[in-house]
Amino acid sequence: MIILKASWEIDLIRKASRIVAEALAELRKLVQPGITTLELDAFTEAYILKRGAKPAFKGYRGYPYTLCVSVNEEIVHGLPGRRRLQEGDIIGLDLGAIVDGYYGDGALTLPVGGITEEARRLMAVTEQCLKQAILKARVGNHLSDISHAVQSHAESQGYSVVRAFVGHGIGCSLHEEPQVPNFGPKGRGPILKLGMVLAIEPMVNVGSPSVRILDDGWTAVSADGSLSAHFEHTVAITENGAEVLTVMDSNGGGVADAEGEGSSS
Ligand code: MF3
Ligand code: CO
Repeated sequence: MIILKASWEIDLIRKASRIVAEALAELRKLVQPGITTLELDAFTEAYILKRGAKPAFKGYRGYPYTLCVSVNEEIVHGLPGRRRLQEGDIIGLDLGAIVDGYYGDGALTLPVGGITEEARRLMAVTEQCLKQAILKARVGNHLSDISHAVQSHAESQGYSVVRAFVGHGIGCSLHEEPQVPNFGPKGRGPILKLGMVLAIEPMVNVGSPSVRILDDGWTAVSADGSLSAHFEHTVAITENGAEVLTVMDSNGGGVADAEGEGSSS
């Protein structure tokens, strides 16, 4: 069952999501060669608590950290640790927060210093996939119109979409129905309705879409070792299209349009 949210509930999801976006904007300033991923995690946990929210991932199915950090061929769910970021890396940062029992979830991929042209293009294409998906998150569309938008854009650029992980409904839980795959034909699945709130999160690989899980039990990497990027927004379906909730307060939480800012910062 897909739970429709009242506007007071969307207000709380918006609060949680803004804290996520603002934390990611702070992290953008910290991501540079030499910093460890554990330092990024510690900063983020302190920031979330200071803002009066709770980390959504810590303790979720036993996940031990606030942040997921996924470097280069890591796709999602990378564990913070003593690894120091190096010039030329790309790092996916995925973060959830809880405010008064309601969840917000967002992710982005950032360059560490100067990066290759391929890495830059992969990040740009993945973010474009998210923007195009958000444009399909409208009352009356089918759920799989979102999925199809991601896949068709990624593949048109020569990349592949990861199938092993999906986006999701979000609200009083981090993961609610429906699942939001990043692939599939359009015109399938439930019709989108006012009050649905979705976390849309394309994961795009340069090479094959196959995934392998490392021995830590969490980190998902591309099976062929190719670079991977991940962007995620929490969006609410309104009368005027999708409202991106994982944006900073100064943005005013704009309604998505063709020129809309897709980034979480
Ligand atoms: N954005 C990811 C998701 O929705 C992050 C979950 S990480 C976990 O699945 F640690 F909480 F599992
Ligand atoms: Co998510």
